[in-house]
Amino acid sequence: MCAHDPYPRSYGTVRVRENAEIAPSVYRLVTAKESLTGPIADPVPGQFFMLRARPSGVLLGRPISVYTSQSDSLTFLILKKGAGTAELCALRAGDSLDLVGPIGNRFLSPAELAREGLPPFGPDTPAEGTDHALRVALVGGGIGIAPVAGFALTLPEKSFDFFASFRSTPYGLDGLAERARQLHVTTEDGSAGVKGMASAVFQPSAYDLVYACGPTAMLVWLRSACLNGPTAWISLEQRMACGAGACLGCTIRTTAGNRRCCVDGPVFLASEVLF
Ligand SMILES: Cc1cc2nc3c(=O)[nH]c(=O)nc-3n(C[C@H](O)[C@H](O)[C@H](O)COP(=O)(O)OP(=O)(O)OC[C@H]3O[C@@H](n4cnc5c(N)ncnc54)[C@H](O)[C@@H]3O)c2cc1C
Ligand code: FES
Repeated sequence: MCAHDPYPRSYGTVRVRENAEIAPSVYRLVTAKESLTGPIADPVPGQFFMLRARPSGVLLGRPISVYTSQSDSLTFLILKKGAGTAELCALRAGDSLDLVGPIGNRFLSPAELAREGLPPFGPDTPAEGTDHALRVALVGGGIGIAPVAGFALTLPEKSFDFFASFRSTPYGLDGLAERARQLHVTTEDGSAGVKGMASAVFQPSAYDLVYACGPTAMLVWLRSACLNGPTAWISLEQRMACGAGACLGCTIRTTAGNRRCCVDGPVFLASEVLF
């Protein structure tokens, strides 16, 4: 969404306020902002931090999206996957973790896209009223729900539909039923909502603008489904090492050339991403 990382990023440590398993292998980690050391800027929806438990057996922090940022807390949703996330999921109240960030660009609201003249708008679009003039859909798949749900909570009430897809038990949907015009949930095992994947309920042609984050297979499908329809902005979860734009380990191919997912993204125009 922007060529360079325009946001200040710094290093600090923070204390865990609570860490609870909210679905099998998925934890909601709440940190207490008052315990932050270092000049960490407030994140905006779509940005992430490199997180590392203290002490840790892994060398590098792991990229984790901000779920919500309140005046007194920063909250993350973490799926236990390998060593780095297992350490984060094992943290208890009072433990500490290192964080570097906030990193990356962000999701821009419809009004902000209009103001910036970014797709689906042209350079001369008036921003006023944009939030309600468009048919907007947000799509979150699996742990990719975190940045999209956090973003949804900052949009005007009833200005969007939300689609959430999971393998099994849903999570990360707090506040969305009240805020979204419609909330659609799918699970692959049929344990909640409609049985199936996002494609079972999400019709791209019914929308003008889509925001999404989720597994690569979902984003590949969404990109092609939106090519002749709505504008889609997607957040990519590329493998990362430095998270600082230096190692090029997170490089992706786009129609505008190679881009570093960490500092040029993680949010990109779907039609520009070459999967
Ligand atoms: C911008 C961004 C935001 C993310 N937000 C979240 C989130 O909110 N919650 C969450 O649970 N997960 C999120 N992820 C995925 C998360 O970073 C990986 O699951 C995690 O790095 C895996 O580390 P590990 O040590 O547990 O697993 P391992 O597989 O042991 O990791 C080994 C190495 O590969 C990297 N790696 C492995 N899988 C991924 C992946 N999918 N994405 C990036 N790097 C990977 C690790 O950083 C590490 O360097 C996000 C990834 C990105 C890029
Ligand atoms: S992770 Fe090193 S450049 Fe992006």
